[in-house]
Amino acid sequence: MTEKCSDAGMDAEQLRVETIGLDAMGALRRTHRCCELDARAVGTEVAVAGWVHSYRNHGGVNFIDLRDRTGIVQLVFRAEVEPLAHTKAGRLRSEFVVMAKGRVERRSADTINPNLPTGEVEIVVTDLRILNTATPPPFPIEDEASAEESTRLRHRIHDLRRTPMQRNLALRHHLYQSVRKTLSDLDFLEIETPILTKSTPEGARDFLVPSRIHHGTFYALPQSPQILKQLLMIAGFERYFQITRCFRDEDLRADRQPEFTQIDLEMSFVGVDDVLHVLETVTVRGFAETIGVQLPRPFRRISYAECMARYGEDRPDTRILLELVDLSDVFRCSEFRAFRASVDAGGIVKCLPIHDADALTRSDIDRLEAFVKKELGGKGLAWIRVREDGEWQSPIVKFFSDTEKRLVSERTQARPGTLIFFAADKPAKGNAILARLRSDMGRRLGRVEDRPWDVLFVVDFPLFEEDENGQLVYAHMPFVAPLEEDIALLDTAPLRVRATHYDLVVNGVELGSGSLRNHRSDVQRKILEILGYPKDRAERLFGFLLNALEAGAPPHGGFAFGYDRLVMMLTGSTGIRDVIAFPKTQRGQDLLMETPSVVTSEQLAELGIEVVPEVGDA
Ligand code: AMO
Ligand code: AMP
Repeated sequence: MTEKCSDAGMDAEQLRVETIGLDAMGALRRTHRCCELDARAVGTEVAVAGWVHSYRNHGGVNFIDLRDRTGIVQLVFRAEVEPLAHTKAGRLRSEFVVMAKGRVERRSADTINPNLPTGEVEIVVTDLRILNTATPPPFPIEDEASAEESTRLRHRIHDLRRTPMQRNLALRHHLYQSVRKTLSDLDFLEIETPILTKSTPEGARDFLVPSRIHHGTFYALPQSPQILKQLLMIAGFERYFQITRCFRDEDLRADRQPEFTQIDLEMSFVGVDDVLHVLETVTVRGFAETIGVQLPRPFRRISYAECMARYGEDRPDTRILLELVDLSDVFRCSEFRAFRASVDAGGIVKCLPIHDADALTRSDIDRLEAFVKKELGGKGLAWIRVREDGEWQSPIVKFFSDTEKRLVSERTQARPGTLIFFAADKPAKGNAILARLRSDMGRRLGRVEDRPWDVLFVVDFPLFEEDENGQLVYAHMPFVAPLEEDIALLDTAPLRVRATHYDLVVNGVELGSGSLRNHRSDVQRKILEILGYPKDRAERLFGFLLNALEAGAPPHGGFAFGYDRLVMMLTGSTGIRDVIAFPKTQRGQDLLMETPSVVTSEQLAELGIEVVPEVGDA
């Protein structure tokens, strides 16, 4: 019979006081880590240390699964071998910290555990030292996370004891080493830039830090070291990198954190190809040295325009085989008002044809239409289904002219079984709706190529875009250089100016971004002017950069990998918090440290800051 050991009338505190000396290890030191023991060690005397993973008593023999960073080994305590150790083992509880000395023995054939690397052996213990007691863990320390995420974050120490978390952080470590070695081999210098700095526009809100010495002034935590790395290029360092923390006060999603890590790099005297070549090397070596995957080089390149046309998004997973079709020209003069109105207003009519779509029922279609309207803010989701007899079933086709029908049919290569979804909207919204349907339906219907990695560089992004109010804004950040051949369009057609900006996209995730920068101050000033920065504001915000550009700035460009996303990808994690030791919640809190937290009135006074009470505060 197997039974859990009883409490034996002694609580953890009593045990601590009675048995644990400050020097509980004495002269004993571990000789092996748990997973270093296998059949080759049989017959040797060893000492191991770690946490009690589980304990049980089986037929009067005490068994402990001992866990350290490497894994688990079984300890056996037999009363006839060492009565004292056997008795002490009976008092152990989960997560107690112990050290054990004993002899490695082969397990009997029927007790071999093929699921454990150490499953062929066990240690018959002759000396057990309890190094510390432990309060009962809030949830079992198992591979599968059984607790809610907020509980895991509140009890992060226990959560981090779980093997997948240990593995994730170990991989994170190995990737740092790989990246540092690769970039150092390529002659990059690792240079630190300040954390207490000035706002760098990366499109998010800044975290501000008040100055005690200069009341009323603030440092901004860097959203990225963008300007500083450009200054380093102007200062003559030629190749810089840093694995650095960035801070962005933005709404969080599954792959975003308010503080996150970038592999940030910048190079002088380069064009786009030179930077992409380095990025390939870093990525290929990173994959090979952490998970043993050889990514084929060169990575595929695809223009932003092609991406948007075919996939409706700038970070497509091209393993999904469905593609969008543009029909804006077809419906320019259509009788169907919703479509014509969209084109009239500068919008698009695009569709997603899905062949052999019988699996999608009418109620699926209704559900999708409701989803598009409610969750994606679409105006509707028109559709056509081509029946077996070739007839079109659709709520809108009665409005189509024969030419429209013919063109839709030709462009979508419609055939019996084809289902076509339409979106007529502003380009950004219409594309976003169909991109979402493309990936959801592609996955649901199994229209996905069978290869584990989809790696691409998306290139030639636009330099500017329009915000909701029709205002011209930068598409990525204000220091990106335009493509040389598009500079002439800056004055005449800024929205058509393509940028030197490139993204690395892996399996539909944006892993990083970069560009060549404006090293000519006149071009930089012009772009700031187009973006609507009055001269004095541009000077106040970026004067130091503009001056530096006039101090002998070499042509330069660079990139930043989102490190956490890269580690997510390599570990197969679904959430960014699983690859960060102490992450923040969706609401920006650290539940373990309980921060952000209030500070004393003395601290505030010192900083010259007064807190305005929230409405409703006592
Ligand atoms: P960008 O703003 O695109 O570029 O950031 C680069 C990469 O950083 C990652 N990332 C994030 N990861 C986690 N949480 C976040 N909140 C978060 N925000 C961004 C993404 C992204 O692709 N200075 C430029 C780079 C350059 O041009 O050299 C920059 O920061 O993976
Ligand atoms: P209505 O004429 O508004 O009843 O719409 C007829 C069909 O067209 C419905 O299936 C709507 O969901 C769809 N629809 C309406 N407006 C749009 C639009 N802008 N884009 C795509 N489908 C639309």
